[in-house]
Amino acid sequence: MGSCATLIAGDKKIELPIIIGTENEKAIDISKICKELGYITVDPGFANTGSCKSAITFMDGEKGILRYRGIPVEQLAENSTFVETAYLLINGTLPTETELKAFSSLLTEHSLLHEDMQIFYQNFPERSHPMGILSSMVNALNSFYPYLGESREERINITVTRLLSKVRTMAAMSYKISRGHKVEYSRPDLTYCSNFLHMMFTTPVRPYVENPDFVKALNVFWILHADHEQNCSTSTVRLVGSAKVNLYSAISAGICALWGPLHGGANQAVIEMLETINKNGGDVTPFVKRAKDKDDPFRLMGFGHRVYKTYDPRAKIIKSVCDRLLTATKKHDPLLDIAKKLEDVALSDPYFIDYNLYPNVDFYSGLVLRSLGIPTNMFPVMFAIGRLPGWIAQWKEGQEDPERALIRPCQIYLGPKQRRYVPIEEMDRQVAS
Ligand code: ACO
Repeated sequence: MGSCATLIAGDKKIELPIIIGTENEKAIDISKICKELGYITVDPGFANTGSCKSAITFMDGEKGILRYRGIPVEQLAENSTFVETAYLLINGTLPTETELKAFSSLLTEHSLLHEDMQIFYQNFPERSHPMGILSSMVNALNSFYPYLGESREERINITVTRLLSKVRTMAAMSYKISRGHKVEYSRPDLTYCSNFLHMMFTTPVRPYVENPDFVKALNVFWILHADHEQNCSTSTVRLVGSAKVNLYSAISAGICALWGPLHGGANQAVIEMLETINKNGGDVTPFVKRAKDKDDPFRLMGFGHRVYKTYDPRAKIIKSVCDRLLTATKKHDPLLDIAKKLEDVALSDPYFIDYNLYPNVDFYSGLVLRSLGIPTNMFPVMFAIGRLPGWIAQWKEGQEDPERALIRPCQIYLGPKQRRYVPIEEMDRQVAS
Protein backbone atom coordinates (compact mmCIF):
# COMPACT_ATOMS: atom_id res chain seq x y z
CA MET A 1 0.00 0.00 0.00
CA GLY A 2 1.24 3.53 -0.79
CA SER A 3 1.57 6.26 1.84
CA CYS A 4 -1.48 7.62 3.63
CA ALA A 5 -2.58 10.64 5.61
CA THR A 6 -4.50 10.10 8.85
CA LEU A 7 -7.59 12.16 9.55
CA ILE A 8 -9.16 12.16 13.00
CA ALA A 9 -12.62 13.71 13.29
CA GLY A 10 -14.46 13.34 16.62
CA ASP A 11 -13.95 9.78 17.79
CA LYS A 12 -13.37 8.40 14.30
CA LYS A 13 -10.13 7.97 12.41
CA ILE A 14 -9.53 7.26 8.75
CA GLU A 15 -6.47 6.55 6.60
CA LEU A 16 -6.58 8.57 3.40
CA PRO A 17 -4.50 7.46 0.39
CA ILE A 18 -1.91 9.93 -0.92
CA ILE A 19 -1.83 10.37 -4.69
CA ILE A 20 1.33 11.60 -6.43
CA GLY A 21 1.10 13.16 -9.89
CA THR A 22 3.62 12.90 -12.74
CA GLU A 23 5.38 16.09 -11.62
CA ASN A 24 5.32 15.12 -7.92
CA GLU A 25 2.15 17.07 -7.09
CA LYS A 26 0.74 15.61 -3.89
CA ALA A 27 -2.93 15.08 -3.10
CA ILE A 28 -4.94 13.43 -0.36
CA ASP A 29 -7.81 11.32 -1.63
CA ILE A 30 -10.81 12.31 0.51
CA SER A 31 -13.43 10.59 -1.64
CA LYS A 32 -14.51 8.23 1.17
CA ILE A 33 -14.67 10.61 4.13
CA CYS A 34 -18.34 11.53 3.90
CA LYS A 35 -19.40 7.90 3.77
CA GLU A 36 -17.00 6.72 6.48
CA LEU A 37 -16.74 9.73 8.80
CA GLY A 38 -19.95 11.64 8.15
CA TYR A 39 -18.01 14.83 7.45
CA ILE A 40 -17.62 16.81 4.26
CA THR A 41 -14.74 19.19 3.46
CA VAL A 42 -15.28 22.92 2.89
CA ASP A 43 -13.07 24.77 0.41
CA PRO A 44 -14.60 28.02 -0.90
CA GLY A 45 -13.32 28.76 -4.41
CA PHE A 46 -11.92 25.17 -4.53
CA ALA A 47 -8.36 26.51 -4.17
CA ASN A 48 -7.32 23.30 -2.34
CA THR A 49 -9.50 20.88 -4.24
CA GLY A 50 -8.51 18.64 -7.14
CA SER A 51 -11.74 18.00 -9.04
CA CYS A 52 -10.29 15.32 -11.33
CA LYS A 53 -7.19 13.45 -12.47
CA SER A 54 -6.06 14.76 -15.84
CA ALA A 55 -3.34 13.98 -18.39
CA ILE A 56 -3.85 17.10 -20.52
CA THR A 57 -2.15 20.18 -19.08
CA PHE A 58 0.47 20.71 -16.40
CA MET A 59 1.02 24.06 -14.77
CA ASP A 60 3.23 25.12 -11.89
CA GLY A 61 2.12 28.47 -10.50
CA GLU A 62 5.24 29.00 -8.39
CA LYS A 63 7.71 28.34 -11.21
CA GLY A 64 5.58 29.75 -14.05
CA ILE A 65 5.41 26.50 -16.04
CA LEU A 66 2.72 25.58 -18.58
CA ARG A 67 2.81 22.42 -20.70
CA TYR A 68 0.23 20.84 -22.99
CA ARG A 69 0.50 17.04 -23.04
CA GLY A 70 4.04 17.48 -21.66
CA ILE A 71 5.23 20.01 -24.26
CA PRO A 72 6.22 23.49 -22.95
CA VAL A 73 3.92 26.22 -24.25
CA GLU A 74 7.02 28.24 -25.23
CA GLN A 75 8.01 25.50 -27.73
CA LEU A 76 4.49 25.28 -29.12
CA ALA A 77 4.24 29.07 -29.49
CA GLU A 78 7.57 29.11 -31.33
CA ASN A 79 7.10 26.11 -33.62
CA SER A 80 3.50 24.95 -33.79
CA THR A 81 0.24 26.23 -35.25
CA PHE A 82 -3.08 26.53 -33.46
CA VAL A 83 -4.55 23.63 -35.44
CA GLU A 84 -1.60 21.34 -34.64
CA THR A 85 -1.82 22.32 -30.95
CA ALA A 86 -5.57 21.68 -30.98
CA TYR A 87 -4.91 18.21 -32.39
CA LEU A 88 -2.32 17.58 -29.68
CA LEU A 89 -4.66 18.61 -26.88
CA ILE A 90 -7.65 16.67 -28.16
CA ASN A 91 -5.84 13.49 -29.28
CA GLY A 92 -2.92 13.39 -26.84
CA THR A 93 -0.10 13.26 -29.43
CA LEU A 94 1.24 15.55 -32.11
CA PRO A 95 -0.15 14.64 -35.56
CA THR A 96 1.82 13.24 -38.47
CA GLU A 97 1.75 15.31 -41.66
CA THR A 98 -1.06 13.15 -43.11
CA GLU A 99 -3.11 13.42 -39.93
CA LEU A 100 -2.66 17.17 -39.78
CA LYS A 101 -3.66 17.59 -43.43
CA ALA A 102 -6.78 15.47 -42.89
CA PHE A 103 -7.70 17.41 -39.74
CA SER A 104 -7.14 20.79 -41.45
CA SER A 105 -9.26 19.89 -44.47
CA LEU A 106 -12.07 18.67 -42.19
CA LEU A 107 -11.97 22.05 -40.47
CA THR A 108 -12.36 23.82 -43.81
CA GLU A 109 -15.12 21.42 -44.89
CA HIS A 110 -17.16 22.05 -41.74
CA SER A 111 -16.70 25.82 -41.71
CA LEU A 112 -20.01 26.69 -43.39
CA LEU A 113 -22.93 27.75 -41.28
CA HIS A 114 -26.63 27.05 -41.85
CA GLU A 115 -27.87 30.28 -43.48
CA ASP A 116 -30.87 30.39 -41.10
CA MET A 117 -28.46 30.95 -38.23
CA GLN A 118 -27.91 34.49 -39.51
CA ILE A 119 -31.42 35.28 -38.17
CA PHE A 120 -29.91 35.12 -34.68
CA TYR A 121 -27.70 38.12 -35.34
CA GLN A 122 -30.53 40.14 -36.82
CA ASN A 123 -32.84 39.54 -33.86
CA PHE A 124 -30.48 40.30 -31.00
CA PRO A 125 -30.74 43.90 -29.76
CA GLU A 126 -28.04 46.09 -31.27
CA ARG A 127 -25.93 46.42 -28.13
CA SER A 128 -25.87 42.71 -27.29
CA HIS A 129 -22.47 41.48 -26.16
CA PRO A 130 -20.87 39.08 -28.69
CA MET A 131 -20.27 36.49 -25.93
CA GLY A 132 -24.01 36.26 -25.19
CA ILE A 133 -24.70 35.83 -28.91
CA LEU A 134 -21.93 33.24 -29.28
CA SER A 135 -23.10 31.09 -26.37
CA SER A 136 -26.67 31.09 -27.74
CA MET A 137 -25.50 30.18 -31.22
CA VAL A 138 -23.23 27.38 -30.03
CA ASN A 139 -26.11 25.94 -28.03
CA ALA A 140 -28.31 26.18 -31.13
CA LEU A 141 -25.83 24.11 -33.18
CA ASN A 142 -27.41 21.04 -31.65
CA SER A 143 -30.74 21.94 -33.30
CA PHE A 144 -29.23 22.93 -36.65
CA TYR A 145 -26.89 19.92 -36.87
CA PRO A 146 -28.75 17.07 -35.16
CA TYR A 147 -27.02 14.31 -37.17
CA LEU A 148 -23.99 13.28 -35.20
CA GLY A 149 -22.95 10.01 -36.86
CA GLU A 150 -23.46 6.33 -36.10
CA SER A 151 -20.69 5.36 -33.68
CA ARG A 152 -19.71 7.20 -30.50
CA GLU A 153 -16.30 8.01 -32.01
CA GLU A 154 -17.89 9.43 -35.17
CA ARG A 155 -20.32 11.49 -33.07
CA ILE A 156 -17.47 12.98 -31.06
CA ASN A 157 -15.27 13.66 -34.11
CA ILE A 158 -18.04 15.38 -36.05
CA THR A 159 -19.06 17.54 -33.10
CA VAL A 160 -15.46 18.47 -32.37
CA THR A 161 -14.62 19.52 -35.93
CA ARG A 162 -17.91 21.37 -36.29
CA LEU A 163 -17.25 23.31 -33.12
CA LEU A 164 -13.64 24.22 -33.93
CA SER A 165 -14.60 25.29 -37.41
CA LYS A 166 -18.03 26.86 -37.06
CA VAL A 167 -17.30 28.92 -33.94
CA ARG A 168 -14.60 30.70 -35.93
CA THR A 169 -17.14 31.36 -38.72
CA MET A 170 -19.74 32.57 -36.21
CA ALA A 171 -17.30 35.04 -34.68
CA ALA A 172 -16.34 36.52 -38.04
CA MET A 173 -19.96 36.54 -39.21
CA SER A 174 -21.04 38.45 -36.13
CA TYR A 175 -18.42 41.11 -36.91
CA LYS A 176 -19.45 41.37 -40.56
CA ILE A 177 -23.15 41.68 -39.70
CA SER A 178 -22.42 44.27 -37.00
CA ARG A 179 -20.69 46.36 -39.69
CA GLY A 180 -23.49 45.86 -42.19
CA HIS A 181 -21.14 44.00 -44.53
CA LYS A 182 -21.68 40.91 -46.65
CA VAL A 183 -20.84 37.67 -44.82
CA GLU A 184 -17.70 35.89 -46.08
CA TYR A 185 -17.00 32.18 -45.90
CA SER A 186 -13.62 30.46 -45.59
CA ARG A 187 -11.33 29.76 -48.56
CA PRO A 188 -9.92 26.26 -49.07
CA ASP A 189 -6.46 27.65 -49.91
CA LEU A 190 -6.02 29.42 -46.57
CA THR A 191 -4.98 28.06 -43.17
CA TYR A 192 -7.23 28.22 -40.10
CA CYS A 193 -5.91 31.53 -38.73
CA SER A 194 -5.52 33.15 -42.11
CA ASN A 195 -9.08 32.14 -42.97
CA PHE A 196 -10.38 33.81 -39.84
CA LEU A 197 -8.65 37.07 -40.78
CA HIS A 198 -10.00 36.70 -44.33
CA MET A 199 -13.60 36.16 -43.07
CA MET A 200 -13.23 39.17 -40.78
CA PHE A 201 -11.57 41.69 -43.04
CA THR A 202 -12.04 40.91 -46.71
CA THR A 203 -14.40 43.30 -48.53
CA PRO A 204 -15.40 43.53 -52.20
CA VAL A 205 -13.33 46.71 -52.52
CA ARG A 206 -10.34 45.55 -50.45
CA PRO A 207 -9.72 41.81 -50.76
CA TYR A 208 -7.84 40.14 -47.92
CA VAL A 209 -4.07 39.93 -48.43
CA GLU A 210 -2.31 37.55 -46.07
CA ASN A 211 0.19 39.17 -43.70
CA PRO A 212 2.45 36.43 -42.22
CA ASP A 213 3.15 38.55 -39.09
CA PHE A 214 -0.59 38.78 -38.38
CA VAL A 215 -1.12 35.06 -39.03
CA LYS A 216 1.80 34.13 -36.73
CA ALA A 217 0.54 36.50 -33.98
CA LEU A 218 -2.97 34.99 -34.15
CA ASN A 219 -1.58 31.44 -34.06
CA VAL A 220 0.44 32.28 -30.94
CA PHE A 221 -2.50 34.10 -29.31
CA TRP A 222 -4.74 31.06 -29.77
CA ILE A 223 -2.03 28.55 -28.78
CA LEU A 224 -1.48 30.43 -25.51
CA HIS A 225 -5.19 30.30 -24.73
CA ALA A 226 -5.73 26.68 -25.81
CA ASP A 227 -5.89 25.14 -22.32
CA HIS A 228 -5.27 26.01 -18.70
CA GLU A 229 -6.34 22.94 -16.73
CA GLN A 230 -9.26 23.27 -14.29
CA ASN A 231 -10.02 27.01 -14.57
CA CYS A 232 -13.54 28.41 -14.11
CA SER A 233 -14.83 27.84 -17.67
CA THR A 234 -13.17 24.43 -18.09
CA SER A 235 -14.58 23.26 -14.75
CA THR A 236 -17.96 24.50 -16.00
CA VAL A 237 -17.63 22.44 -19.19
CA ARG A 238 -16.70 19.35 -17.16
CA LEU A 239 -19.50 19.94 -14.64
CA VAL A 240 -22.21 20.54 -17.23
CA GLY A 241 -20.83 17.65 -19.31
CA SER A 242 -21.10 15.34 -16.28
CA ALA A 243 -24.89 15.62 -16.59
CA LYS A 244 -24.44 13.94 -20.01
CA VAL A 245 -25.66 16.97 -21.91
CA ASN A 246 -24.48 17.27 -25.55
CA LEU A 247 -21.02 18.77 -26.18
CA TYR A 248 -22.44 21.93 -27.81
CA SER A 249 -24.39 22.79 -24.65
CA ALA A 250 -21.43 22.06 -22.39
CA ILE A 251 -19.25 24.41 -24.50
CA SER A 252 -22.00 27.04 -24.52
CA ALA A 253 -21.95 26.96 -20.69
CA GLY A 254 -18.14 27.32 -20.79
CA ILE A 255 -18.49 30.41 -22.99
CA CYS A 256 -20.84 31.98 -20.41
CA ALA A 257 -18.35 31.31 -17.62
CA LEU A 258 -15.48 32.71 -19.66
CA TRP A 259 -17.40 35.94 -20.31
CA GLY A 260 -16.89 37.21 -16.74
CA PRO A 261 -14.36 40.04 -16.23
CA LEU A 262 -12.51 37.98 -13.60
CA HIS A 263 -11.87 35.34 -16.26
CA GLY A 264 -11.89 35.69 -20.07
CA GLY A 265 -13.55 39.09 -20.02
CA ALA A 266 -10.36 40.54 -18.51
CA ASN A 267 -8.68 41.18 -21.89
CA GLN A 268 -11.49 43.58 -22.81
CA ALA A 269 -11.39 45.14 -19.33
CA VAL A 270 -7.61 45.72 -19.64
CA ILE A 271 -7.97 47.74 -22.84
CA GLU A 272 -10.86 49.73 -21.37
CA MET A 273 -8.70 50.47 -18.31
CA LEU A 274 -5.70 51.51 -20.46
CA GLU A 275 -7.98 53.73 -22.57
CA THR A 276 -9.31 55.41 -19.42
CA ILE A 277 -5.73 56.02 -18.20
CA ASN A 278 -4.86 57.42 -21.63
CA LYS A 279 -7.88 59.75 -21.60
CA ASN A 280 -6.83 60.96 -18.15
CA GLY A 281 -3.42 62.06 -19.39
CA GLY A 282 -1.52 58.75 -19.14
CA ASP A 283 -0.54 58.96 -15.46
CA VAL A 284 -0.76 55.44 -14.00
CA THR A 285 -0.18 56.42 -10.34
CA PRO A 286 -3.82 57.18 -9.37
CA PHE A 287 -4.91 53.83 -10.84
CA VAL A 288 -2.27 51.91 -8.91
CA LYS A 289 -3.37 53.77 -5.78
CA ARG A 290 -7.03 52.88 -6.39
CA ALA A 291 -6.15 49.20 -6.97
CA LYS A 292 -4.54 49.09 -3.51
CA ASP A 293 -7.45 50.82 -1.75
CA LYS A 294 -9.54 48.15 -0.04
CA ASP A 295 -12.57 50.49 0.02
CA ASP A 296 -12.46 50.81 -3.76
CA PRO A 297 -13.67 47.80 -5.81
CA PHE A 298 -11.28 48.76 -8.66
CA ARG A 299 -8.60 46.17 -9.45
CA LEU A 300 -5.71 46.40 -11.83
CA MET A 301 -7.10 44.34 -14.68
CA GLY A 302 -4.67 41.85 -16.21
CA PHE A 303 -2.84 41.48 -12.89
CA GLY A 304 -2.98 38.51 -10.54
CA HIS A 305 -3.90 34.90 -11.05
CA ARG A 306 -5.35 32.16 -8.91
CA VAL A 307 -2.51 29.76 -9.72
CA TYR A 308 0.45 31.84 -10.95
CA LYS A 309 2.28 33.50 -8.11
CA THR A 310 4.98 34.62 -10.52
CA TYR A 311 4.99 36.08 -14.04
CA ASP A 312 2.42 34.21 -16.15
CA PRO A 313 4.54 32.35 -18.80
CA ARG A 314 1.90 33.22 -21.41
CA ALA A 315 2.19 36.93 -20.58
CA LYS A 316 5.93 36.84 -21.34
CA ILE A 317 5.30 35.32 -24.78
CA ILE A 318 2.37 37.57 -25.70
CA LYS A 319 4.31 40.67 -24.61
CA SER A 320 7.09 39.82 -27.09
CA VAL A 321 4.51 39.01 -29.80
CA CYS A 322 3.02 42.45 -29.20
CA ASP A 323 6.42 44.14 -29.49
CA ARG A 324 7.26 42.19 -32.68
CA LEU A 325 3.89 42.92 -34.27
CA LEU A 326 4.07 46.64 -33.65
CA THR A 327 7.66 46.76 -34.95
CA ALA A 328 6.72 44.77 -38.07
CA THR A 329 3.71 46.97 -38.81
CA LYS A 330 5.66 50.14 -37.87
CA LYS A 331 2.73 51.14 -35.68
CA HIS A 332 2.87 52.97 -32.40
CA ASP A 333 0.20 52.20 -29.82
CA PRO A 334 0.14 54.66 -26.89
CA LEU A 335 -1.68 52.01 -24.84
CA LEU A 336 1.41 49.76 -25.03
CA ASP A 337 3.50 52.54 -23.47
CA ILE A 338 0.93 52.90 -20.69
CA ALA A 339 0.82 49.13 -20.14
CA LYS A 340 4.61 48.97 -19.79
CA LYS A 341 4.60 51.94 -17.41
CA LEU A 342 1.85 50.31 -15.35
CA GLU A 343 3.76 47.06 -15.21
CA ASP A 344 6.98 48.81 -14.07
CA VAL A 345 5.18 50.78 -11.34
CA ALA A 346 3.16 47.81 -10.11
CA LEU A 347 6.08 45.37 -10.07
CA SER A 348 8.13 47.67 -7.84
CA ASP A 349 5.21 48.43 -5.49
CA PRO A 350 5.26 46.52 -2.15
CA TYR A 351 1.48 45.83 -2.40
CA PHE A 352 1.84 43.93 -5.68
CA ILE A 353 5.05 42.26 -4.52
CA ASP A 354 3.51 41.08 -1.23
CA TYR A 355 0.37 39.77 -2.93
CA ASN A 356 2.41 38.14 -5.75
CA LEU A 357 0.46 40.07 -8.36
CA TYR A 358 2.13 39.84 -11.78
CA PRO A 359 0.75 40.49 -15.27
CA ASN A 360 -1.38 37.62 -16.56
CA VAL A 361 -1.94 36.67 -20.21
CA ASP A 362 -4.74 39.23 -20.57
CA PHE A 363 -2.50 42.17 -19.78
CA TYR A 364 -0.84 42.24 -23.21
CA SER A 365 -3.14 40.02 -25.28
CA GLY A 366 -5.67 42.81 -25.90
CA LEU A 367 -2.93 44.95 -27.40
CA VAL A 368 -2.12 42.17 -29.88
CA LEU A 369 -5.79 41.84 -30.83
CA ARG A 370 -6.05 45.62 -31.25
CA SER A 371 -3.11 45.54 -33.66
CA LEU A 372 -4.88 42.84 -35.66
CA GLY A 373 -7.92 45.13 -35.97
CA ILE A 374 -10.20 43.08 -33.70
CA PRO A 375 -12.81 45.29 -31.96
CA THR A 376 -12.53 45.38 -28.16
CA ASN A 377 -15.93 43.81 -27.42
CA MET A 378 -14.85 40.77 -29.46
CA PHE A 379 -11.77 40.05 -27.31
CA PRO A 380 -13.49 37.50 -25.05
CA VAL A 381 -14.80 35.78 -28.20
CA MET A 382 -11.20 35.48 -29.43
CA PHE A 383 -10.29 33.90 -26.09
CA ALA A 384 -13.23 31.49 -26.45
CA ILE A 385 -12.09 30.32 -29.92
CA GLY A 386 -8.63 29.70 -28.50
CA ARG A 387 -9.94 27.80 -25.46
CA LEU A 388 -12.13 25.45 -27.54
CA PRO A 389 -9.49 22.67 -27.93
CA GLY A 390 -8.93 22.68 -24.16
CA TRP A 391 -12.63 22.56 -23.34
CA ILE A 392 -13.14 19.75 -25.85
CA ALA A 393 -10.15 17.74 -24.59
CA GLN A 394 -11.24 18.17 -20.97
CA TRP A 395 -14.87 17.28 -21.76
CA LYS A 396 -13.69 14.16 -23.62
CA GLU A 397 -11.40 13.14 -20.76
CA GLY A 398 -14.27 13.64 -18.29
CA GLN A 399 -16.61 11.47 -20.39
CA GLU A 400 -14.01 8.70 -20.76
CA ASP A 401 -12.91 8.73 -17.10
CA PRO A 402 -13.69 5.35 -15.50
CA GLU A 403 -14.27 7.20 -12.19
CA ARG A 404 -16.70 9.67 -13.78
CA ALA A 405 -19.75 10.67 -11.82
CA LEU A 406 -22.31 13.45 -11.89
CA ILE A 407 -20.46 16.46 -10.45
CA ARG A 408 -22.45 17.60 -7.50
CA PRO A 409 -20.63 19.34 -4.61
CA CYS A 410 -22.05 19.45 -1.07
CA GLN A 411 -22.58 22.42 1.25
CA ILE A 412 -22.81 23.38 4.89
CA TYR A 413 -26.31 24.70 5.48
CA LEU A 414 -26.37 27.88 7.61
CA GLY A 415 -30.00 28.92 7.03
CA PRO A 416 -32.88 28.84 9.53
CA LYS A 417 -33.85 25.65 11.36
CA GLN A 418 -37.20 24.09 10.47
CA ARG A 419 -40.06 26.56 10.95
CA ARG A 420 -43.72 26.60 10.04
CA TYR A 421 -45.29 28.14 6.93
CA VAL A 422 -47.03 31.43 7.81
CA PRO A 423 -50.16 32.35 5.76
CA ILE A 424 -49.91 35.78 4.11
CA GLU A 425 -52.72 37.35 6.23
CA GLU A 426 -50.83 36.36 9.37
CA MET A 427 -47.59 37.81 7.91
CA ASP A 428 -49.41 41.11 7.26
CA ARG A 429 -50.70 41.16 10.85
CA GLN A 430 -47.21 40.38 12.22
CA VAL A 431 -45.61 43.19 10.17
CA ALA A 432 -48.40 45.67 11.09
CA SER A 433 -48.17 44.97 14.85
N1 ACO B 1 -5.50 44.41 -8.29
C1 ACO B 1 -5.48 44.72 -6.97
N2 ACO B 1 -5.58 43.79 -5.99
C2 ACO B 1 -5.69 42.51 -6.35
C3 ACO B 1 -5.70 42.11 -7.70
C4 ACO B 1 -5.60 43.10 -8.69
N3 ACO B 1 -5.60 42.79 -9.98
N4 ACO B 1 -5.82 40.76 -7.77
C5 ACO B 1 -5.89 40.33 -6.51
N5 ACO B 1 -5.81 41.38 -5.65
C6 ACO B 1 -5.82 41.32 -4.18
C7 ACO B 1 -7.26 41.21 -3.69
O1 ACO B 1 -7.82 42.49 -3.44
C8 ACO B 1 -7.10 40.36 -2.45
O2 ACO B 1 -6.72 41.20 -1.40
P1 ACO B 1 -7.26 40.91 0.13
O3 ACO B 1 -6.84 39.50 0.43
O4 ACO B 1 -6.59 41.93 0.95
O5 ACO B 1 -8.75 41.04 0.06
C9 ACO B 1 -5.92 39.46 -2.77
O6 ACO B 1 -5.18 40.10 -3.80
C10 ACO B 1 -6.34 38.09 -3.28
O7 ACO B 1 -7.29 38.27 -4.32
P2 ACO B 1 -8.38 37.19 -4.68
O8 ACO B 1 -9.34 37.76 -5.66
O9 ACO B 1 -8.94 36.59 -3.44
O10 ACO B 1 -7.45 36.09 -5.33
P3 ACO B 1 -7.82 35.10 -6.44
O11 ACO B 1 -6.72 34.12 -6.53
O12 ACO B 1 -9.18 34.55 -6.26
O13 ACO B 1 -7.87 36.10 -7.69
C11 ACO B 1 -8.01 36.96 -9.84
C12 ACO B 1 -7.40 35.86 -8.94
C13 ACO B 1 -9.55 36.83 -9.84
C14 ACO B 1 -7.52 36.71 -11.25
C15 ACO B 1 -7.60 38.35 -9.32
O14 ACO B 1 -6.20 38.46 -9.26
C16 ACO B 1 -8.19 39.49 -10.17
O15 ACO B 1 -9.33 39.90 -9.93
N6 ACO B 1 -7.42 39.99 -11.17
C17 ACO B 1 -7.92 41.02 -12.06
C18 ACO B 1 -8.78 40.36 -13.15
C19 ACO B 1 -7.96 39.58 -14.15
O16 ACO B 1 -6.95 40.05 -14.63
N7 ACO B 1 -8.46 38.38 -14.49
C20 ACO B 1 -7.80 37.52 -15.48
C21 ACO B 1 -7.30 36.27 -14.85
S1 ACO B 1 -6.36 35.31 -15.96
C22 ACO B 1 -7.48 34.48 -16.90
O17 ACO B 1 -8.58 34.20 -16.54
C23 ACO B 1 -7.03 34.14 -18.24
